[in-house]
Amino acid sequence: MAQRTNDLGRAEACANIALAKYWGKSKKGDNLTAVPSLSMTLDSLRTRTEVKFETGLTEDLVVLNSQLVHGSETARVSALLDRFRNLADIDLKARVTSMNNFPTAAGLASSASGFAALAAASSQACGLELAAAELSSQARKSSASAGRSLFGGFVELLSETPQASPVAPANHFPLAMIVLIVRSSRKEASSSWGMQHTASTCPYYESWLHHAPEMFAQVRSAVLEKDFTKLAEAMEHSTRLMHATMMTSLPPILYFRGATVELMHEVAKRRAAGHPEAYTMDAGPNVKVLTPAQNLEAALAFYKSYPGVESIVTCRPGPGTAFLSHSSALETAQRENEVS
Ligand code: PMV
Repeated sequence: MAQRTNDLGRAEACANIALAKYWGKSKKGDNLTAVPSLSMTLDSLRTRTEVKFETGLTEDLVVLNSQLVHGSETARVSALLDRFRNLADIDLKARVTSMNNFPTAAGLASSASGFAALAAASSQACGLELAAAELSSQARKSSASAGRSLFGGFVELLSETPQASPVAPANHFPLAMIVLIVRSSRKEASSSWGMQHTASTCPYYESWLHHAPEMFAQVRSAVLEKDFTKLAEAMEHSTRLMHATMMTSLPPILYFRGATVELMHEVAKRRAAGHPEAYTMDAGPNVKVLTPAQNLEAALAFYKSYPGVESIVTCRPGPGTAFLSHSSALETAQRENEVS
């Protein structure tokens, strides 16, 4: 075992939103997904992470958004670090400092950008030179959606497949995504628990497994053909099929709030009236509206004052995970949070 390393790893990753959803794990285990998914990487939701293996640490220390975290959050980080320690034959604990550029309380899932940045920073801190596909596979074991954030633009993660792969670059299809935050503070049921619960109690779960690949195929060809109307219909259907399985679990998992449903009606009404807009929702109540970039200003003007919308984040197709050679923000955060 290597006794010490002075190497730092630093990386930045963007979040992603699935246009074709996955919900459910494969029976093969290893956090493989049961259905294929396709996402758009989002340029404005980013996580920066620094990993440093240090002599003298008796446990991994994880500082997330300037707060030392404990329990299950640290355990998930340690599980990823353990895999890299095994690969690199390193026996040291690590100090991990991670910052999101978006408020965690905004109810936006940060596990995708978080585990993608962590996988890249860990590999660099270990002195490993892994291809993006291998980093994707490692991130995917911690959070399946994180596997997609290694790549920019439009990205697919096929069912029972270890790593995600790029479908089209960020500049392929000029789209924008408006994240409408309708409820920021409530802690939602975690997606891992929700998927298990759905698989074991929803009477329609097998039907979802059957239909999801068709939705994925439609979303994929719509993206490649740059056909917004086809994409809108397939993306919304994928979301509704997924949420239908959640809602019909026992007890139900109901992520939607009133504003979520009002916005679904509004987007449908506006699309019928000629506004190219489509909705998608994940494991929470926030509504993400996808629109061609040239319609962004008009869409923003409408949704920004919509009743129930607390705040808005605007995103465009973003880049894949990148290593960072300098990271003053992280260094400042680390100094402010000296924990040992
Ligand atoms: O892989 P997780 O645990 O981040 O779950 C992601 C689940 C959804 O966001 C609802 C769908 C998806 O494909 O991203």
